[in-house]
Amino acid sequence: MSIELQNVTYTYNAGTVFAKTAIDDVSLTISPGEFVGLIGHTGSGKSTLIQHLNALLTPTAGRVLLGGEDINADKSKLRAVRQRVGLVFQYPEHQLFEVSVYKEVAFGLKLMQTPHMEADSRIRDALSAVGLSEDYYEKSPFELSGGEMRRVAIAGVLAMNPSVLILDEPTAGLDPRGRDKILSQIKYMRELLGITVILVSHSMEDIAKLAERIIVMHNGKIALNGTVSEVFSQADKLAECNLTVPQSTILMKELAANGWDISTDVYTTSAARDTITAAVKGDEK
Ligand SMILES: Nc1ncnc2c1ncn2[C@@H]1O[C@H](COP(=O)(O)OP(=O)(O)OP(=O)(O)O)[C@@H](O)[C@H]1O
Ligand SMILES: [Mg+2]
Repeated sequence: MSIELQNVTYTYNAGTVFAKTAIDDVSLTISPGEFVGLIGHTGSGKSTLIQHLNALLTPTAGRVLLGGEDINADKSKLRAVRQRVGLVFQYPEHQLFEVSVYKEVAFGLKLMQTPHMEADSRIRDALSAVGLSEDYYEKSPFELSGGEMRRVAIAGVLAMNPSVLILDEPTAGLDPRGRDKILSQIKYMRELLGITVILVSHSMEDIAKLAERIIVMHNGKIALNGTVSEVFSQADKLAECNLTVPQSTILMKELAANGWDISTDVYTTSAARDTITAAVKGDEK
């Protein structure tokens, strides 16, 4: 299901002395099945933007279209919009409250009065998609690790069968193992379900590993919008947005500057490893 923002502006506390325009005339189209990474310095408007995609915020000006329809035109369709566009907030584990993992994931389905058999199969599928086995079903969410709690929260959103999944900083505050687990689960879920994914992250490496397209926000506007290599090859423009290219790219540029005959079109550690290994082997011949 395509998503379109048409000239969207959002001002917090409009009409007061505290007015703050967080999104400024943004237009954007996301096609069905795309994996989009959304990056930008703190306060650039990422969270404000994504909350427009499931009508948690209504634009001060402009329109948000889902599958060609204005999502704010008919308030009676809000629930359907939120089912189609699932949003996982930053630190979603703070919103867990049920006594068991199973019940936590069941919560949204219960609200929708989903028949028991269907709900059960959706809960199982969602927990399996985030890599949590039956051993977890009866555990309290509060006895889990931070990364596991976050996967429970993601499963709760997945159980609603969304066509679009938005994750706001899903790896924030996790240790490296927790991070890798969440990232590989996101990749797996995307491949399994074929849904559109929008990933908000401060980590250039994470975005480079997963996204096909990158949108860079700066002061409420879109500063860059393109493929991973289109965006990460513009180091100067990224610097203007207070961002840097991934560490692996910096390393490759330094090697090239020191006389290595090496590609700098490298954005992840594994690509850096492969490129360096190939260059060293080439030299040995
Ligand atoms: N509830 C609010 N009331 C007033 N201003 C707000 C509110 N929420 C956000 N803002 C302001 O809007 C701007 C954009 O904030 P937003 O949270 O969308 O940025 P962000 O890119 O998600 O930042 P971060 O990376 O820190 O999460 C900031 O200047 C912020 O201070
Ligand atoms: Mg934010």
